[in-house]
Amino acid sequence: MSLRICHVVGARPNYMKAAPLVRALAKHSGVGQTVVHTGQHYDFNMSDVFFQQLGMSEPDINLQVGSGTHAQQTAAIISLFEPVVIKVSPRVVVVYGDVNSTIAAALVCSKLGIPVAHVEAGLRSFDRTMPEEINRLLTDQICDLLFTPSADGNTNLAREGVASEKVHLVGNVMIDTLVRMLPKSREHKPPSSERFVLVTLHRPSNVDDLQWLGAMLETLDKIGGDTPVLFPVHPRTQKGLNQVLAKSGACKHVRLMDPLPYLEFLALQQAAALVITDSGGIQEETTFLGIPCLTVRENTERPVTVELGTNILVGRDLNRLQYEAQRILSGKRKKGQIPEFWDGRAAERIAEVLVERYSERADRLVPKPSVATRPPAWGPSRWRPSR
Ligand code: UD1
Repeated sequence: MSLRICHVVGARPNYMKAAPLVRALAKHSGVGQTVVHTGQHYDFNMSDVFFQQLGMSEPDINLQVGSGTHAQQTAAIISLFEPVVIKVSPRVVVVYGDVNSTIAAALVCSKLGIPVAHVEAGLRSFDRTMPEEINRLLTDQICDLLFTPSADGNTNLAREGVASEKVHLVGNVMIDTLVRMLPKSREHKPPSSERFVLVTLHRPSNVDDLQWLGAMLETLDKIGGDTPVLFPVHPRTQKGLNQVLAKSGACKHVRLMDPLPYLEFLALQQAAALVITDSGGIQEETTFLGIPCLTVRENTERPVTVELGTNILVGRDLNRLQYEAQRILSGKRKKGQIPEFWDGRAAERIAEVLVERYSERADRLVPKPSVATRPPAWGPSRWRPSR
């Protein structure tokens, strides 16, 4: 095998981004792939079920880092990933999105002299209180290849002094997965034939402040008085909700559910009259599907979903949230367009660049680290032979 590529995934939104690239690279002869899961997300319904539904083989290696503070989680990934990547010795490592696993793996590789490619580069919320914004900024500074989903990403990277030769506008890999899985998702019927509003919330700024979370739940309950609300709850949000509900009692018109697998959630998005969210990926998916989306954040790193798509930022203003929800539910929907290159072929474009760039020099060895390294910390349970 002349070209070994290592993918690093860790959290729920990474799997939909890695799946199409793993498939696209598998079509190129001479490419070997190793998928490393950091274990940042570990619950069955936050991880394994996505691998099953997306048709991905199990990860070759799972670092099993689990939960912790940002420092603990990032540090654990760094120290466990270093010996793994030395052993795998890939020609290039691919990292995805903006989660702690992304920056941790990129940092390890950049210090070892192993080239790193960042998929979903260049997005900026310009809000440095978001942990993901710090991860985005730092990852893009140390990566060798930057694949942007939309033109604003190129503008942001140019402003930060990133050399234009490193940057490739390829489109949105998350939409590749959506396009491929749409037919299958239609086999999943929504839980009721009634019109409904779909809600997801998990950003620390929304769910860690219990007073705010309680106020949001009240507003959702009011919206649900007209049109029932379905709310699949992220584990982070569940912790806060338990406390809020213990104090204020049940909310009648909001149906709380466990986090859903990809296909079931995609089916719900397509059938929803409105989606209310603080997720980045869901802003994109609703734009592609033409479903109205209200984003409960002051900013978005996906401005194209507001400029072209169906997304409206309502900020931290619950009166505005209720007002915009009522407008949409009464039929006043924003019409959107699909951004350029969100066509289901972004991963093919990335694969072309990676193969062209790294095949020709694939016979050269990856530079060995100059630091003394401990023996690999993974045992048999963490290691399976690479594909
Ligand atoms: C992470 C990402 C965020 C992404 C989100 C998608 C960072 C900084 N944030 O946020 O960008 O949008 O994933 O889900 O990387 N937990 C479980 N089971 C799990 C996973 C997490 O119970 O399978 C709990 C953890 O114990 C923790 C909380 O959920 O208390 C948060 O998990 P964490 O990975 O730290 O961040 P997310 O909020 O999920």
